[in-house]
Amino acid sequence: MRYYPVFLDLAGQHCVVLGDGKFATEKAASLREAGANVQVIPSREYRTGDLAGARLVVDASEDTEVNRRSWQEAEEAGILINVVDRPAQCRFIAPAIVRRDPLLVAISTSGESPYLASALRARIERWLGREWGPFTALVGSVRRQLRERSVPIPEQTRAYRRIINSDVRRLLKGGRHDEAAHMAVAIAQAGDSGTGRVALVGAGPGDPDLLTFKARELLADADYVLHDALIAPETLALCGPDARLEDVGKRAGLDNPRQEEITARLIELARAGNAVVRLKGGDPFVFGRGGEELAGLTRAGIDVVVVPGVTAALAAPAAAGIPVTLRGVASSVAITTAQGGGSLDRLRALALAADTLVVLMPRAGLKEVAALLARVVGGLRPAAVISNATLPNQRSISGPIDRIAILAEQAAIETPATLVVGDVVAAAPALAVVPNSIVDGGFG
Ligand SMILES: C[S@@+](CC[C@H](N)C(=O)[O-])C[C@H]1O[C@@H](n2cnc3c(N)ncnc32)[C@H](O)[C@@H]1O
Repeated sequence: MRYYPVFLDLAGQHCVVLGDGKFATEKAASLREAGANVQVIPSREYRTGDLAGARLVVDASEDTEVNRRSWQEAEEAGILINVVDRPAQCRFIAPAIVRRDPLLVAISTSGESPYLASALRARIERWLGREWGPFTALVGSVRRQLRERSVPIPEQTRAYRRIINSDVRRLLKGGRHDEAAHMAVAIAQAGDSGTGRVALVGAGPGDPDLLTFKARELLADADYVLHDALIAPETLALCGPDARLEDVGKRAGLDNPRQEEITARLIELARAGNAVVRLKGGDPFVFGRGGEELAGLTRAGIDVVVVPGVTAALAAPAAAGIPVTLRGVASSVAITTAQGGGSLDRLRALALAADTLVVLMPRAGLKEVAALLARVVGGLRPAAVISNATLPNQRSISGPIDRIAILAEQAAIETPATLVVGDVVAAAPALAVVPNSIVDGGFG
């Protein structure tokens, strides 16, 4: 690393800007904004010796002879200098800045790409809304109060985390500054006895980029993340460095925690004042037992938020280029599972009722499910099986329902996989061009 990043306190300090063009005006303005006493010297008027006593110099003259002399003078006097657009003649470089006073975010590419720095600035600006300014100030005032009360550092840290996870920022965003301040102080005063919160969060079908913004924020700030077995490591990597991860996934045939044990653990952690995320594949309320957890937590008086996710039921067909509804082809979709009691009767009824049928967890019983559906809707009804949708190892196969189980077996399609049945499969315009998809011609 070539640069050592710092923020300089230039209030009341003598700073010199050389030049008379647009750059010089801009540099002088931003130094003045930071409280510096700025002297602007036009290029023609600069004489060696003019920099004496300056803390910092920006040479924006765009004149190579002035550049050479100012650099030499500053170096001899030990003054920090930046010669605009001459990296070799810079003792410091100015980063791109996101300003949310008192919060300042500085971005530097070490001079490699000003374009990239400003593109990143634009992204961070979108991410850090205006409310982050007053929020930072509020957290600062809470910090002063906690320090005055000599609250131990670990307890302070937990208080800040609770404030970050609370509705304080939302209140500030809505201009409700007094309420936000009251809430922040109340959270800090409640200490570790204040109850935590559980967020039931959908992790989407696999690709971490399909997580919602809210899910990402909750993961970054969580004390505990209790997650399903199928969550991709890249998604878990979005958890904050101090988050404790517990795999509570239910894998068939293994000795896994029972649902009541998971709910009890969530309640225990929340009661101990933690910010807990229950991270579930897809959407928490689509065959994810999220409804049961919500009921258990609510009964126990725990504060719960639900963050919907992109369900595999819709994402798997979408990722394979299959629209579950299509004008003139399908205007209704049914989502079900091949697991559980009565599933075959339900499948039969839904296959007749809906244009497109999406079956989750079909892999183990695919042969039986496909045979049943073939009897109900005819063996030529188009079908597709998509596995590991949205992940790099996504694969899909399609063909008539009476051949789909054989095709899946021949292609060694893995779990997790989703079955889609309906004319949309054959009509799907993109199916043939989606990578790793095998299309069997015989749709009839
Ligand atoms: C217990 S269900 C949970 C569904 C989840 N709550 C949702 O909304 O996606 C698990 C089933 O979802 C489907 N599934 C999950 N992830 C998938 C993926 N990446 N590709 C295809 N199917 C997937 C499979 O049918 C799998 O057996």
